[in-house]
Amino acid sequence: MSVSAAGYLRISSADVGAWMDFGTGVLGLMDAVREDADGARFLRMDDHPFRFMIEPGDTDKLLAAGLECPDRHAWQNTLNRLEDAGHSVMVGSSDEAKRRCVTEFASLEDPAGNTLELYWGRELDYTPLVSPAGIPFFVTSDQQSGDLGFGHMVLPAPDIETATAFYTELIGTGITDILYPPGMGGLKINFMHTNNARQHSIALFGGEHPLGIVHMMIEVPSLDELGQAMDRAKAAGAHFLATLGRHVNDNMCSVYILAPGGIAVEYGYDGLLIDPETYVATVSSEGDLWGHEYNFPGV
Ligand SMILES: [Fe+2]
Repeated sequence: MSVSAAGYLRISSADVGAWMDFGTGVLGLMDAVREDADGARFLRMDDHPFRFMIEPGDTDKLLAAGLECPDRHAWQNTLNRLEDAGHSVMVGSSDEAKRRCVTEFASLEDPAGNTLELYWGRELDYTPLVSPAGIPFFVTSDQQSGDLGFGHMVLPAPDIETATAFYTELIGTGITDILYPPGMGGLKINFMHTNNARQHSIALFGGEHPLGIVHMMIEVPSLDELGQAMDRAKAAGAHFLATLGRHVNDNMCSVYILAPGGIAVEYGYDGLLIDPETYVATVSSEGDLWGHEYNFPGV
């Protein structure tokens, strides 16, 4: 197991200001003010210098997912394993690493074309987190298991078996649940944990997605924080992609809200923590214990 956590996302936005207003005003994330030559803005959840980098672009899409390695040795071993298997890996320059506040990173594509950035050695920001929405903390760490990462991401992978083998055999994730959502014609979603207690940090969706990410999830500590976010989203006129519900596999009680530009954000609490060394994978034929009625815009 080489990857510790889902560390950060780099997101392209056609309206960075609107995304930041959503990120701070609705999601309650902290604007981490820092200079960036390319006009990116940064959102913090904890003492990581940022968890989401919002970069100006023509369209909204996921640019890259940052995956954290525990140290240089594990990072280099993972790169060697990828190169030995025939994948091309590009080590970033020191300026590019500095922009990400990491010691070293390398970028590569998974078999579905999703861009990953494997990194180690993050420079932390000890300025106290002040959520503009008054959220005391986001669930990104656990007293026993340490870093849980920012949350989770679901990435498109039409050839799901090839992509899953890449993650489990080369990146070092472990399967926690295989979901066949009812009424979806055999669609499959593979949920995978990294080396922390979050039930899944990365999931692969067996289909295409125009934005390069099916959804991203962030977690707050209580139902009240979730309910208050729902109020803020409603007041801001945000589109709810799914009503309140609770997932079968990771127990997450959540809603799905669309960010400006359309990326879906799952906002939840009460996610399941596991022991990644001993957890036994499950197969689910239902996505939800209750709720999560979907409302796709324009449908
Ligand atoms: Fe999710």
